[in-house]
Amino acid sequence: MRRAIYPGSFDPVTNGHLDIIQRGCKLFDEIIIAVLVNPEKTPFFSVDERCEILRDVLKQIDRGNCKLSVDSFEGLLVQYAAERQANAIVRGIRAISDYEYELQMALMNRRLEPSIETVFMMPAEIYSYVSSRLVKEVFNLGARIEGLVPPIVEARMREKK
Ligand code: PNS
Repeated sequence: MRRAIYPGSFDPVTNGHLDIIQRGCKLFDEIIIAVLVNPEKTPFFSVDERCEILRDVLKQIDRGNCKLSVDSFEGLLVQYAAERQANAIVRGIRAISDYEYELQMALMNRRLEPSIETVFMMPAEIYSYVSSRLVKEVFNLGARIEGLVPPIVEARMREKK
């Protein structure tokens, strides 16, 4: 039984995140998509909204035999992952610029909890420039975000405007 945690802010979930989850389903028996509760950030969507949206968009994922669930967590990721008896943490890497920070996190997490491996996965090239931060920025400036996020996400973002 291979269980992975896919942690992140998911504010909002993008098609790049979904691409990683779908790829992860080929490697793991179970993936827990874990939304970070971060009181320091002012989010677009609340943690509850992000979890609700994730559960909704995951319905369209081709998951094979992989079990997918959505949860939120506070504090240290490795502590949460160990409590959930996960074998791995999944992170998506789009470009070399992501790698430096991700490597630091992976090595720190390994030091804190050597039993959990970080698995880096690459999304499809068409999502290599897609980030939640840029999606919010261009959306707030009036641009279309069709194709970057699932239609449900775009609709929920319009409701907030
Ligand atoms: O989607 P993001 O914002 O890039 O995700 C970052 C996340 C949630 C993976 C990272 O901030 C995290 O793990 N936070 C939990 C606190 C923690 O464990 N910090 C030490 C990381 S080495």
